[in-house]
Amino acid sequence: MPSFSVGLSRVFSSIRSRRVAPYLLLPVALLAMVSFVAFRHPSALSSPAHSLSNPLVLPAGWPAPPVPADNPITAEKFTLGRYLFYETALSGDGKTSCSSCHDVYVSFASAGSAGSHSGAFGVQSKPARMVPRLENVAYDTVLTWDGHIQTLEDQVAIAVQKKGDLQGDTTVVFANLAAIPAYGVMFTRAFGDPAITLDRIAKAIATFERCFISGNSPYDQYVSGNTSAMDSSSIRGMNLFFDTTKGGAKCAECHNNLGNQGLTSANIFTDNNYYRTGTFEPSQPGAGYGFPTPKDSNLDAGRAAVTGDSADIGKFRTPSLRNVAIRGPYGADGTVGSLLQIIENYNAGGGTSFDSGITTIRISNQDPRIKPLGLTSAQMLDLEAFLNSLTDVSFISNQAFRDPGAPSIVEDGYVIANNLSLYPNPSTGVVNIECPDFTGSTNASLISENGATVWRQTLNSDGKLRLDFSGVANGSYRLVLHSSDARQTIPIVLQH
Ligand code: HEC
Ligand code: HEC
Repeated sequence: MPSFSVGLSRVFSSIRSRRVAPYLLLPVALLAMVSFVAFRHPSALSSPAHSLSNPLVLPAGWPAPPVPADNPITAEKFTLGRYLFYETALSGDGKTSCSSCHDVYVSFASAGSAGSHSGAFGVQSKPARMVPRLENVAYDTVLTWDGHIQTLEDQVAIAVQKKGDLQGDTTVVFANLAAIPAYGVMFTRAFGDPAITLDRIAKAIATFERCFISGNSPYDQYVSGNTSAMDSSSIRGMNLFFDTTKGGAKCAECHNNLGNQGLTSANIFTDNNYYRTGTFEPSQPGAGYGFPTPKDSNLDAGRAAVTGDSADIGKFRTPSLRNVAIRGPYGADGTVGSLLQIIENYNAGGGTSFDSGITTIRISNQDPRIKPLGLTSAQMLDLEAFLNSLTDVSFISNQAFRDPGAPSIVEDGYVIANNLSLYPNPSTGVVNIECPDFTGSTNASLISENGATVWRQTLNSDGKLRLDFSGVANGSYRLVLHSSDARQTIPIVLQH
């Protein structure tokens, strides 16, 4: 199979104004890390192939995630959901999208420094809790840190309208979307007619999120037979992690598939249950766990916010540990900044008390399994190495999950509906595109950033085009497709 690497450039980013996160250097740092990891694990970069007809790509041996009967996964909903996930027109301020908080570079979580909740931006405010990752979210039986939401569809409908999230007024949101002609086409493809409803927005975005499958980390490669995918330290760490007997680290008591112990590649590293570990106790004044009071409205009740039961105060849903090394800070409150610090906290059996800023109070509700572990420093480093081996570079670099760019562009009086789909398909310059609006003779040209036409061909399109850019230099371009009744532009980055 020819290989190429193509990315959707930000050429048209001025069309949609976005908030610029202050941690813009993070992607750069990540890319540096990605190239380092890629160097160590060449096979980690073999992205699963996505195609228009099959957006849900499961690694070998993984069960299909549950999908609601009234929202089967289709390519058309995936495409629409992808545009909507990055769509600032869904928000009350016209600047925020799901991706303002759920950043693909950090597995759809957000990154910042400990205790600050930085890195995430909603309309007017930062979220009160850390932004969860979204990889493998399709397998979760409950959502959010305290389980107050059950389905991906419900979650979208809430996030679009919720104060502090997108804070969108649906009447305005629907009108904004309807004003973008490309959405008429995409809603029709996905649902049969162009009507825009919250239910359809929710179904499309939920479909996009259900396809976020991450199962190609060095750990996955190791358990599927590639014994050189992990080094000896991370293998020792893995054995400690899954060892629930005396002397083991017992992490798999909770960070494991629904109680299913043992090494399986399809592990989602959470049992979707709620515990207070005592290893993430916020110590800064004005923060901490408990029912909020008029005096202290910042207290987080955890699971008790849902059950109303004080026995659930400070309990949170076990988070997945996949891609944990690239996100953080950690815990619902972002209190702990490093993985090694977390491991040291677990090794100490958690804190036995926390400082509310004024008095020292015993932790209630701590899970009885969290006890001093007696691990040596070398063993703790091994555990950290294991957590690092859960990073799936092919997931965060999968172009099918990235911002597809502006959904419509008006050029030379043409309304250009963006129905192009271009999936990662590593090659040295051959780009495969599905473009159902184009049939018959189609002119394709590649325009450089300074406006020069660097490549041009006339092809016969049957709704699919194979374009050979192998002679074109690396860089950012606009690909313009033009036939007798359709015209489209798409940003393309070439990296041979
Ligand atoms: C202001 C930042 C922000 C925005 C914008 C935002 N989210 Fe979230 N999201 C969060 C936070 C914080 C949580 C955790 C909330 C909690 O646990 O109480 C969350 C939770 C979730 C979850 C549950 C994940 C899990 O594992 O528990 C999903 C799914 C999700 N968001 C999807 C979306 C989608 C889709 C959008 C756009 C429609 C969106 N979010 C917009 C911050 C945001
Ligand atoms: C009793 C169940 C339980 C056990 C055992 C357990 N954890 Fe956790 N873990 C949790 C819960 C619950 C949280 C979320 C805690 C919070 O927000 O206060 C968590 C959070 C984490 C986080 C932060 C993840 C994030 O996204 O914020 C890491 C890392 C972690 N645990 C690693 C480990 C390791 C390593 C071990 C073994 C030494 C371990 N855990 C043992 C339940 C457990």
